[in-house]
Amino acid sequence: MGLITLETTSPSPDQARQLCAQLEAGEILYFPQTPIRIPENDLSFLLGQQQTDSSLHKNIAYKPNIDALSGLDTKTADQAAVDRLRGIMRSYSRSVVEFLTGFLSPYRGQWQLDYASFRPQEEQGRDLSLRKRNDLLHTDAFPTRPTQGARILRFFNNIHPTRTRDWVVADPFAKLVGQFAPAEIAPVPDTAMSRAGKGLGRAIGLGAAIPSIKRSPYDDFMMRFHNFLKENARFQAESTKYPWQFPAGSSWMVYTDTVPHAVLTGQYALEQTFLVKPEAMVAPEHSPLKVLEAIAGTGLL
Ligand code: SIN
Ligand code: FE
Repeated sequence: MGLITLETTSPSPDQARQLCAQLEAGEILYFPQTPIRIPENDLSFLLGQQQTDSSLHKNIAYKPNIDALSGLDTKTADQAAVDRLRGIMRSYSRSVVEFLTGFLSPYRGQWQLDYASFRPQEEQGRDLSLRKRNDLLHTDAFPTRPTQGARILRFFNNIHPTRTRDWVVADPFAKLVGQFAPAEIAPVPDTAMSRAGKGLGRAIGLGAAIPSIKRSPYDDFMMRFHNFLKENARFQAESTKYPWQFPAGSSWMVYTDTVPHAVLTGQYALEQTFLVKPEAMVAPEHSPLKVLEAIAGTGLL
């Protein structure tokens, strides 16, 4: 899949629409030099985290709507450092929102702001359970936050001072669903609305539904598809792969529910997630929801 290097940070309305269409089709939009201003002293604080022995080392999430951090041990972390980190994440999150509000103007007012994250760990060789591993190709789905058809758009900053962040991506959702489960995907009758997602999942061998929170058939499928891809050795080995190395100081954005991705090496990244409403899509035919509904022959929300 392609990567589009951006020459401008202020596209015309027509260009912005074109960029949204390219994103929706599975392109990565890439800024060699990030358009997000991150103050020098914030950067040195973030880069200092791995050298100290505080519990701020983990992958840390910032929830903009409640201005709170999670993923760090507040019992042992130094309170001043926690407050500082929260302030840095708040300001990063706001800067990305402000930038994309202008840059992706067709989506203005059409997204729900999701979490931001700070990723201070070396990604190569992380000791994570298979379903949590990010070095295996996968499309994103959130176990605790079903999107109801909204799209998962992620904006990244490689804040490492010198090293690249190395990704590999595969062909986007529509192609993948056809390629790795062609014959087995059968349309599900209209009458089976509530079971449609599970039926579709079973049909392509994704196993039983995942228990826990209530999901639409769409969200149920997307969660199981995430697991299916990580667990599918044939897909991991045989899919067409496109490697991308994002240099220090760069930014990129991508619909991670559409583009299978894996991070192989790299350390220190910031990221902000947006859940973009289905109504805002400028090329809705590429959305996993529309692709799956066409296969199922029924609505999946
Ligand atoms: C992921 O979303 O799977 C990880 C991406 C990254 O941390 O670079
Ligand atoms: Fe991911």
